[in-house]
Amino acid sequence: MFSVFPPRNSLLVAALSLVLTRLSCSSLSVLDIPHIASYFGTKTRYEEVNPHLLRDISSVNTSVLKPPPNERCTPVHLTAVIRHGSRYPTVKNIRRIRKLSELVRTESSRGSAGSEGSGGWLQEIQSRWEMWYTDDMDGQLVMKGREDLRQLAKRLSVLFPSLLSEENLRRVSLRSSSKHRCVSSVEAFQEGLQHTWRHTEVQYSHQVDDELMRFFERCRGYVEGVENNRTALQEVEKFKHGEEMDGVRRRMAEKLGLPHHRLTPDLVEAAFFLCSYELSIKSLHSPWCFLFDERDARVLEYKSDLKQYWKRSHGHVISSMSSCPLFHHVFRTLDKAGRPRRSTDASPEPASILVGHAETLLPLLSLLGLYKDQTPPTASNYHSQHGRSFRTSLIVPYAANVLFVLYDCQRGPRLQLLINEQPVRFPGLEKEDAPLYREVRATYRHLLDGCDFDRECEGRTSGRGPNIEL
Ligand SMILES: *[C@@H]1O[C@H](CO)[C@@H](O)[C@H](O)[C@H]1NC(C)=O
Ligand SMILES: *[C@@H]1O[C@H](CO)[C@@H](O)[C@H](O)[C@H]1NC(C)=O
Repeated sequence: MFSVFPPRNSLLVAALSLVLTRLSCSSLSVLDIPHIASYFGTKTRYEEVNPHLLRDISSVNTSVLKPPPNERCTPVHLTAVIRHGSRYPTVKNIRRIRKLSELVRTESSRGSAGSEGSGGWLQEIQSRWEMWYTDDMDGQLVMKGREDLRQLAKRLSVLFPSLLSEENLRRVSLRSSSKHRCVSSVEAFQEGLQHTWRHTEVQYSHQVDDELMRFFERCRGYVEGVENNRTALQEVEKFKHGEEMDGVRRRMAEKLGLPHHRLTPDLVEAAFFLCSYELSIKSLHSPWCFLFDERDARVLEYKSDLKQYWKRSHGHVISSMSSCPLFHHVFRTLDKAGRPRRSTDASPEPASILVGHAETLLPLLSLLGLYKDQTPPTASNYHSQHGRSFRTSLIVPYAANVLFVLYDCQRGPRLQLLINEQPVRFPGLEKEDAPLYREVRATYRHLLDGCDFDRECEGRTSGRGPNIEL
């Protein structure tokens, strides 16, 4: 029966020889990257968003800083909200991967798979890939993830030489979520900063702050209304069992020579994630990747986007409101840094580094009004959502970062926003890259005067007045 699948198999052989070439040479060439690598949602590598980093990980484009050229501006403060780097799958996904690998093992040993001769893929995966994930890896930062943060710190030092200067290093404030992957990330960031100045013995000085970086789990209104509420995520459930996902399932089952019903949507997703993990952890082009074409990847990306949209973003107002403490923290820091000073005053904090999760960044970006398309993505409008701005692959890859850059300019302080090292304009202030800080404050006045965590999350009116300035 094995002569009936030459076209597929020759593609497979080509694919596997790529994998093998990869093992023998250490630099990752563009050709080795799976064609679906930019659709992995929150499991996307940072390099997919900034492909120039594949050629040179330390390349910095200083023209992304865009204060008005005629106002002689100098950066006075940087607040960076950063997601942890590449990590292992969490236990939940490791268990799904194990189920998938067991399915492949039993089906390929049965040997009868592929009445249509398509069992080739199943046997090839079985012979070329081994289950190597263990439960104890549970979401921990991998080596590549440490490197993500070290390199980001080095690039930011080049982009902001006066703020992240050697003499300023001790005055940079650093906070992190308590999760292992975030603490490892904030350490790696400090290694990057200090290595820039050739300090060989790195001194760590970060604080763990879950109130700030894991606000979502402390917001009762969010936990009860969204996180633990099945109907809040019904669009995701519907899409998971809908027509588009079913097509992906059918095509994957066909390639593997398995009956359609043996592959649940979760197992399909596990295979897709396997492709992503082996790329982001080991820089490998995994044999699992060849089960999906670009059309499949777009569907699976949409499924992840739906989940993030309805769980962490504009889908429910409480999701963005839960980030009020972080929002206020950022603006209080900016207020302090931008305040007029006498020459005798101590200079302001040069930088504030805040390391958290995709779940930290998405609500904050939503609160700022970003990536809000006119039509919300739902289970039934996939085909009209191709041009949507809400694409988590582009917004929150590993090591995603939101940079608030405060400049001192002739007409007063100005603020610029960069997301993943690219300039992004504030909604409502689209005319300028770096509007006056007071205009930004005016735009967010309703949040600066309100956005009270206790009121939004606990339904309580708090005794304290609105949180305007420190
Ligand atoms: C540098 O950034 C600017 C502003 O975003 C952009 O227009 C330009 O294309 C970038 N240059 C390179 C070489 O990427
Ligand atoms: C759960 O979500 C639905 C849909 O968003 C909402 O109408 C309902 O009030 C929520 N339930 C709870 C307990 O918050």
